[in-house]
Amino acid sequence: MTLAPTRSSSHHVASHGAEGFADVLVGLQYGDEGKAKIIDALAPEYDVIARFNGGANAGHTIDTPHGRIALKQLPSGVFHPHAALYIGSGCAINPWKLAEEIEQLNDMGVCLEGRLRISARAALVQPHHIALDRRGSATIGTTGNGIGPCYADRALRVRNDTRVNLMIGDLLENEATAVSSMRDVFTRMINADGGTLPWMAEMSDLLLSLPAVARTLRRYIEPDRSWLTVRVKQGARVLFEGAQSVLLDVVDGSQPYVTSSHTVPAYAYVGGDLAAKYHRRTIGVAKAIVSRVGRGPFPSELGGDRSAAYCHDAAQTQAGAAQEREQHVPEDLLRSTDPFDIGTALRMLTGEYGTGTGRPRRIGMLDLAQLREVIRAHAVDCVYLNKVDCLSYYLQTAYQGVPMRVPRDALSGEAMPDVLIYPGLTERSISLGRGGTLDSAMNGFVDFVERYIGAPLAGIGLGPERASLVTLAAHEKLRATNASKAETTHA
Ligand code: IMP
Repeated sequence: MTLAPTRSSSHHVASHGAEGFADVLVGLQYGDEGKAKIIDALAPEYDVIARFNGGANAGHTIDTPHGRIALKQLPSGVFHPHAALYIGSGCAINPWKLAEEIEQLNDMGVCLEGRLRISARAALVQPHHIALDRRGSATIGTTGNGIGPCYADRALRVRNDTRVNLMIGDLLENEATAVSSMRDVFTRMINADGGTLPWMAEMSDLLLSLPAVARTLRRYIEPDRSWLTVRVKQGARVLFEGAQSVLLDVVDGSQPYVTSSHTVPAYAYVGGDLAAKYHRRTIGVAKAIVSRVGRGPFPSELGGDRSAAYCHDAAQTQAGAAQEREQHVPEDLLRSTDPFDIGTALRMLTGEYGTGTGRPRRIGMLDLAQLREVIRAHAVDCVYLNKVDCLSYYLQTAYQGVPMRVPRDALSGEAMPDVLIYPGLTERSISLGRGGTLDSAMNGFVDFVERYIGAPLAGIGLGPERASLVTLAAHEKLRATNASKAETTHA
């Protein structure tokens, strides 16, 4: 298995006195790269899976022996019973949805008691946050979960003499005060709006149900800010799971079309409550069919501005997969010479619709130039590339190969300024790969990608099933690189 821990490989490290470590896994594009699938494959190698940012704006669907479940706030490792789960202080928690997720899992027979810890300092999403976010969601295309207003209030601390930066620990420590403070802020908001506001009844119901929600969450709250650090000191191996992705970071991303939390890997140690000295490795996840939801720049978008406008309108009218299926036959669109049509076909054929919202995602070519920048900025050690099998659809298009954005200095006079058509991938090599054999065409593709992005590929996804993730020998390469670096340093 790739990425096997190098400092320790057993669950009994604590008894040998060795300290543990943390790896940070982040998406390298605009979210929805299939991080949960990679975490599912890597989870056996870790003792704790931890979240450090975001909240119910994230979403991952997991197929389990008990059926399909869409999780938003719980870390992806829930179905690995050996792993403890931690939700750090950098997260913005929607308590209603979190309680619902926990109960849903309970109904499936997955008990989280003793496994799940939630930092008492995590920010609490309040009804007025949700209302504010929904009201202003169209400008950026937010998910309407109240995440932005919640983080804004965390920084604001006090508004109109009322404390607005409530933490989940406040709710549990003094429920009556917390609920009345939330009610006050919400009522002031309604009054400022002239006495009416959409969702008033819904928000009142949320407040009424808070005591029951608090009862469910109480047993999971962790007041000790050193909980994770102490565990790692004792030998625990942690995998941090980034929500959203690096290009949506609140500072680093393309303003203002970003999420409101820090998504960059370094933030794992702030929002995940772990001493940074335990960092071992940064793992990136990307996908070969790139997607973006919401507005903002997307250099490799198929159909450019038309695609952006179309997906924005679809989000407003709630049009999703069903409507597209009624209107189009994707196999016909694939044969079009218009990149917008090809993007629509790829969305339909590869299921690129929002997990939480059902919104059609904007679709783009694999962008190696962009990946190279991100990998360099965050010193990403290795990359998993999902949906490589989906590239075969391009072979049926007028491109007659796989179009990719590549660094400009890699090109010598191609027709389009920064797009290269990669001819070498074949249907046969993809189906062979799925069976575990990488032929020379697939190896050539892997080498090509690695050369342009400047990092080794640790694995490629060749299908939605667990078994279709082909792991590569990236960590052997990493070891070799580390060894040669050490030699150079000592020379
Ligand atoms: P917010 O995070 O709801 O404030 O939304 C801000 C931007 O981040 C919007 O463009 C969202 O579509 C995007 N976003 C938030 N969460 C995710 C995610 O999990 N995947 C992809 N995009 C996301």
